[in-house]
Amino acid sequence: MVVALTGDRPTGPLHLGHFVGSLQNRLAMQDVYDQYIMIADVQALTDNFENPKKVTENVFELMKDYLAIGLDPAKNTFFIQSQIPEVAELTVYFLNLVTVARLERNPTVKTEIGQKGYDDSIPAGFLCYPVSQAADIAIMQAEVVPVGEDQLPMIEQTNEIVRRFNRIYNVTCLKECKPVLSQTARLVGIDGKAKAGKSLGNAIFLSDSPEEIKRKVFAMFTDPAHLKISDPGQIEGNVVFAYLDAFHTDKEEVAALKMHYQKGGLGDTTIKALLNTTLQALLEPIRTARACVQLQDMQHILQVGTYKTRQTAMQTMSEVREAIGLRYF
Ligand code: TRP
Repeated sequence: MVVALTGDRPTGPLHLGHFVGSLQNRLAMQDVYDQYIMIADVQALTDNFENPKKVTENVFELMKDYLAIGLDPAKNTFFIQSQIPEVAELTVYFLNLVTVARLERNPTVKTEIGQKGYDDSIPAGFLCYPVSQAADIAIMQAEVVPVGEDQLPMIEQTNEIVRRFNRIYNVTCLKECKPVLSQTARLVGIDGKAKAGKSLGNAIFLSDSPEEIKRKVFAMFTDPAHLKISDPGQIEGNVVFAYLDAFHTDKEEVAALKMHYQKGGLGDTTIKALLNTTLQALLEPIRTARACVQLQDMQHILQVGTYKTRQTAMQTMSEVREAIGLRYF
């Protein structure tokens, strides 16, 4: 079976942006691929090294989200990045195959550097995390990577490194990979300003309470010029419609509502109430399942998965060392 690999940084609970961006794909893919799901604690440390608790405490929160949305431990292998030391080793060899200039050009990293205000004091580990991500993917021989749009530069960089490795050492032991994007690659935040993000405070989390969901839906940015119900309203930039597009299953109903809204006569409260119902129905079973997950079960799943992952990682590393010629005894 073809290997798929993906992961998340354990820095907070997952939100609806993750859900449409890659979680839904993973759910569909768990039946088709040999799917590995990585909790990327090493990567999370690259910008949280001063606060490791934030990372370690979120490992099991993330795992709860995975199980609650229906990622089945019988169909997926879950593992923790830091427990596969071979990934760190491969990262070191990969670092030789990429220039600092190339790292600085990665658009996702560039944006993050801006958001974090690093300016001239970028931690080297942070700048290099795409290389470690390339190692995550390559070490597991993954050919398919279900991710959100912001991860496309990482996949591109992974393939550049893999090609370089195979060419320089004249081997074929590492595989190139393909991203799998969802229909809704990017979900806007409830403020309509940026994409929904953990740290931007504009996301609806899978674990939000019913009250919190409602509060966020009713705080959504719509059309500031749509003052009276009878006024014609704008769809473009209207967060409520963006979410209805992403989550409401009856596409015809959404199309009809859009027409009505544009014509005038449809109030924001009505569409927000509909969205609220839609999201409550989606998130209620997830919240319930989340509350039932036991720590011991998660530990067991992760231990078994990490062991299994490590067997493949060790196999790849022995081929990598052989390819470079690191065999002395
Ligand atoms: N960079 C990804 C994110 O922030 C997480 C990640 C780490 C990942 N390693 C990966 C995703 C390997 C896919 C494959 O969401």
